Amino acid sequence: MASAKLFLILVLVSWVLGLGHCGELRKNFYKTTCRQAEQIVQNITWKHAANNSALPAKLLRMHFHDCFVRGCDASVLLDSVANNTAEKDAIPNLSLAGFDVIDEIKTQLEKSCPGVVSCADIVTLAARDSVSFKFNRSMWEVLTGRRDGNISRASEALANIPSPFSNFTTLKQSFASKNLTVQDLVVLSGAHTIGVGHCNLFSNRLYNFTGKGDADPSLNSTYATFLKTKCQSLSDTTTTVEMDPGSSVTFDNDYFTSLKLQKGMFQSDAALLTNKGSSNIVNEMLRSGKFFTEFSQSMKKMGAIGVLTGSSGEIRKKCNVAN
Ligand code: HEM
Ligand SMILES: *[C@@H]1O[C@H](CO)[C@@H](O)[C@H](O)[C@H]1NC(C)=O
Ligand SMILES: *[C@@H]1O[C@H](CO)[C@@H](O)[C@H](O)[C@H]1NC(C)=O
Ligand SMILES: *[C@@H]1O[C@H](CO)[C@@H](O)[C@H](O)[C@H]1NC(C)=O
Ligand SMILES: *[C@@H]1O[C@H](CO)[C@@H](O)[C@H](O)[C@H]1NC(C)=O
Ligand SMILES: *[C@@H]1O[C@H](CO)[C@@H](O)[C@H](O)[C@H]1NC(C)=O
Ligand SMILES: *[C@@H]1O[C@H](CO)[C@@H](O)[C@H](O)[C@H]1NC(C)=O
Ligand SMILES: *[C@@H]1O[C@H](CO)[C@@H](O)[C@H](O)[C@H]1NC(C)=O
Ligand SMILES: *[C@@H]1O[C@H](CO)[C@@H](O)[C@H](O)[C@H]1NC(C)=O
Ligand SMILES: *[C@@H]1O[C@H](CO)[C@@H](O)[C@H](O)[C@H]1NC(C)=O
Ligand SMILES: *[C@@H]1O[C@H](CO)[C@@H](O)[C@H](O)[C@H]1NC(C)=O
Repeated sequence: MASAKLFLILVLVSWVLGLGHCGELRKNFYKTTCRQAEQIVQNITWKHAANNSALPAKLLRMHFHDCFVRGCDASVLLDSVANNTAEKDAIPNLSLAGFDVIDEIKTQLEKSCPGVVSCADIVTLAARDSVSFKFNRSMWEVLTGRRDGNISRASEALANIPSPFSNFTTLKQSFASKNLTVQDLVVLSGAHTIGVGHCNLFSNRLYNFTGKGDADPSLNSTYATFLKTKCQSLSDTTTTVEMDPGSSVTFDNDYFTSLKLQKGMFQSDAALLTNKGSSNIVNEMLRSGKFFTEFSQSMKKMGAIGVLTGSSGEIRKKCNVAN
């Protein structure tokens, strides 16, 4: 009798715990509902990455912008409509790209398993897979089970995406508002090991830092001379420059080596050296193995920001419009 009661209680407890898990991200969420999902994402992403070495930077940044605005809910993919300007069309969207790859993946997934795989998970997986292509293996674990939001506002992108002109205090606050630590801030800034930046986002550091026609004293003068050959005036808004000179398509920890030589492109990069704790973390990231381990952990945290799970949100039919 007593053991029958105990059994019932155990069944109840595991049922309740099981329900709890419905609302969380987990490994291989689509295992039973769309067995091939992750392989389809990887195949299409790798096909494009093989052709376009700039793709990893595009998709990694897209994922960051998605997660920092309303959580990782694919709000970054929604198009503007008559009565609403979406995140995509906010100023910090500069050079966001790779939407075509996400759309191709979604189209294939809708053919294989209609209405099952969220756009939010596609962005998260594709960011991982694009960076992983050159390593021929997955560089970090991605938990799945995100669902899609149906709201995207340009004003929220402006308010939530940190500006490249930010100082350390502002960056720290921005990350803290997403429950990310200074460790995450430094480690994830290492993403700037790939990709490019537009001249107008840093040329004040070359030509008019304090309004006296001066350069930013915290910028390496040799590097500044080089950057001036690329960005010839304060008004250049179209030229882009590699953020990690010479290895901007290689995902490694070179960003931190450059940063130490005062070659961070943005004020927000240089800011990581202006705080003792943060600067110590920069030093730790000079060890490649440490960087890869930490990056993987911080990406997992970033990928969990404000996610919609369980019965919240929806599974969009097309990634650029809410159902
Ligand atoms: C710490 C605060 C951050 C600031 C202020 C910042 C700012 C910027 C800016 C201004 C650009 C250049 C955009 C352009 O000119 O087109 C950029 C590029 C990029 N960012 Fe960040 N970022 C930050 C954090 C991150 C994080 C957390 C990630 C991802 C984990 C990331 C990934 C990238 C990538 C991959 C690019 C290159 C994009 C391309 O080549 O098109 N950034 N970032
Ligand atoms: C993925 O690509 C591999 C190698 O090209 C292929 O063998 C496999 O069938 C593909 N899987 C899916 C689900 O597309
Ligand atoms: C990749 O580039 C090759 C040659 O430029 C082209 O034939 C192929 O269609 C491209 N593939 C994709 C997926 O864009
Ligand atoms: C825009 O219009 C649609 C109906 O066309 C409505 O559902 C939605 O709430 C409106 N959005 C805003 C931000 O007013
Ligand atoms: C970024 O926003 C501008 C308007 O601010 C828009 O013209 C442009 O098409 C947007 N870019 C993308 C990739 O959506
Ligand atoms: C990539 O990894 C797969 C197994 O995971 C292996 O079969 C293949 O040969 C590898 N490709 C290269 C170019 O190393
Ligand atoms: C950092 O930037 C913010 C916003 O621009 C400003 O209010 C603050 O005074 C700055 N902090 C420091 C330490 O410069
Ligand atoms: C941060 O954590 C707090 C407390 O656990 C939670 O209420 C909040 O929703 C979290 N914020 C984000 C953006 O995940
Ligand atoms: C440099 O900044 C100052 C103060 O903002 C401004 O008056 C001056 O016109 C700027 N110089 C150039 C070349 O834009
Ligand atoms: C500036 O960069 C050069 C290499 O381009 C390096 O030798 C020098 O040490 C750097 N200066 C500082 C202050 O880090
Ligand atoms: C957004 O999704 C929620 C469910 O998550 C739904 O109740 C609401 O009607 C949707 N709003 C729009 C404008 O589609």
